[in-house]
This record gives sequence, C-alpha cells and structure tokens, in this order.
Amino acid sequence: MKLKAILAAALLAVGMSVSAQTIIKFSHVVAADTPKGKASVFFAQRAGELTKGKVKVEVYANSALYKDKEEMEALQIGSVQMLAPSLAKFGPLGVKEFEAFDLPFIFDDTADLHKVTQGPVGAALLAKLEPRGIKGLAYWDNGFKSFSANTPLKAVADYKGKKFRIQSSKVLEEEIRSVGGIAQVMAFSEVYQALQTGVVDGTENPISNFYTQKMHEVQKHLSLTNHGYLGYAVIVNKKFWDGLPADVRGQLEQAMNEATVYANKIAQEENDMSLDGVKKSGKTTVYVPTKEERMALKKAMAPVHTKMADRVGKDTLQQIYQATG
Ligand code: LMR
Repeated sequence: MKLKAILAAALLAVGMSVSAQTIIKFSHVVAADTPKGKASVFFAQRAGELTKGKVKVEVYANSALYKDKEEMEALQIGSVQMLAPSLAKFGPLGVKEFEAFDLPFIFDDTADLHKVTQGPVGAALLAKLEPRGIKGLAYWDNGFKSFSANTPLKAVADYKGKKFRIQSSKVLEEEIRSVGGIAQVMAFSEVYQALQTGVVDGTENPISNFYTQKMHEVQKHLSLTNHGYLGYAVIVNKKFWDGLPADVRGQLEQAMNEATVYANKIAQEENDMSLDGVKKSGKTTVYVPTKEERMALKKAMAPVHTKMADRVGKDTLQQIYQATG
C-alpha cells in the first residue's frame, strides 16, 4: 500500500510538471545562422524568460522536422505549433493574397515594405489566415532576392530558356515566364542538390539563404538584381494559441514583439555578411547589374502585376500600391 501511494504521488508530480510546461515546436526550413534562424532562437529564449519557464519553445531548423508543404499541414493538425513560412508559400493553403509580396519590383526598399507589413494592410492580410485555423502573429524580414545561374545574368535575354527553381507561388511562376525562363516549384531543402545535378539551372533568393545553403558552391554567377522581396509571416495553430492562459499568451506576444524588432534589425546585416562570404569564397562571380540592365528587367517583369492582379486580389494590390505611394 505504502509503495503504491508513493508511486501514485510520484506519477502525480511527473504529470504536474509535464502539464505545467507548454511546449511550442517551431519548425522552419532555413539554416540556423540566417535572419529567421536567429530570430526564432531569440524568440525561444525570450519566451522562456518571460513565461518563467512555463513555455519551452523548441526550434527545429533546416527542414529537420518538415519540408515546406509538410510543415503547413503539420501546423494545421497541431503536430507543430509555430512556423515562419515565406509569404510566397501561402497560395497552396488557399490564401493567395500573400503572393502580392512576390510581385517583381513592388517595393523600392525595406522602408517601403514596412508601410505594408507594419500597417493595416499587413494586419488585414494576417487576418485572412484565421478561417484556415491559423493565426498570424508577425512579419519578419529577410530581404530582396537576387538571381543566380551557371552562366552570367545581365540582359533579359540571358534568362531565356533557363530553368529556375521557385517557391510555390503562381506570381513567381509568371515572373520567370516574363523573362522567357522555365519555372520549377521545389522545396527549399532540395534546391542545393537540384542545382548541383543540373535539374535546374538557377534560382532566386536573398543572399543569406544562398550562402547558408552553400548554393555558391554550385552556382557560378550571382547577379544582384534585388528584383523581389522574400519575408515571413510567423504563424501559430489558432486553437492552440487561443487555448493558452491569457497571461501566458500576453508574455508570448511580448516575446514575439521583441523577436520581430530583432529579426528586422539583423536581416540586412545577415544578408550583407553572407554577400561578403560569397565574395570571399571565390566560387561565384558576383555581378552588379547596371541601372539600364535593372530597368530592362523591371520593364520585362512589369506585366506580371496586371496578369496576376486577379489572383492576388485587385483590392489587396490597390491597398499595397496606396500604402507604398
Ligand atoms: C525558399 O524556399 O527559397 C525560402 O522560402 C526559404 C525561406 O524560408 O527563407
């Protein structure tokens, strides 16, 4: 009897300590030393501190748990609680409006972008996720994308007939088509190998992703086109989030606000450091397009805005144009 009582008490204690700590699995697909990788670890740390250990955030980087498509499904069924997918990856979920962020040359710079992500237009877009069982908490920056290939990319004609890996966005598909290229959707975790084996000829990404996935080892030319934006929405399973005690949710919101400030502060620095790394590697020739070359690319890609207006929603597009002046 006595032993049973002790065992029962021990089980109760274990049960209590388990239920007292909430685990948040935060899965993402990029390397740990990227803007998103570092910001997710920052969030985990602050979440632990602010909740005084009531919440433990476990960060899984580099597609260690799930690849792009799978992680969205995992979030919806509650196998993970938090993600930060690129805004280009919400189309398959049925929220096509986020693909407006993929439109070529839609933002002049980060300040321009923040007028959307940090204002009412950005908030309204996040709200569109709720009927899918997802709550959007914040936008995290990465940066502007550049194109790479094994042959130089200077004139628009240089893109013709080349196969480029893209994220799962119809807008990006149209972008590649606008310069005569062939678009191939592929999970981020598969890009290095696809470039290495020649399954695709080139790709587009901010330099931090390019460098930390070692794409410079398998791409001879990088052209600093800065033609489009890549950033993230930090999202949680809504049922999980709404079920948290209000005080804990408040502390996590504070941790997220701090992580967002941090993410957006380091994004440019991380990309600059990665560019240095690419240059120092001596493996990829880094080319800065002339003003004329960049204008020619912009002109070739301009029709993507009108072609995709229905897909991303004319209202959304109008609101973005208005917010950015
Ligand atoms: C990509 O698939 O190229 C990016 O979305 C990866 C990322 O999360 O930055």
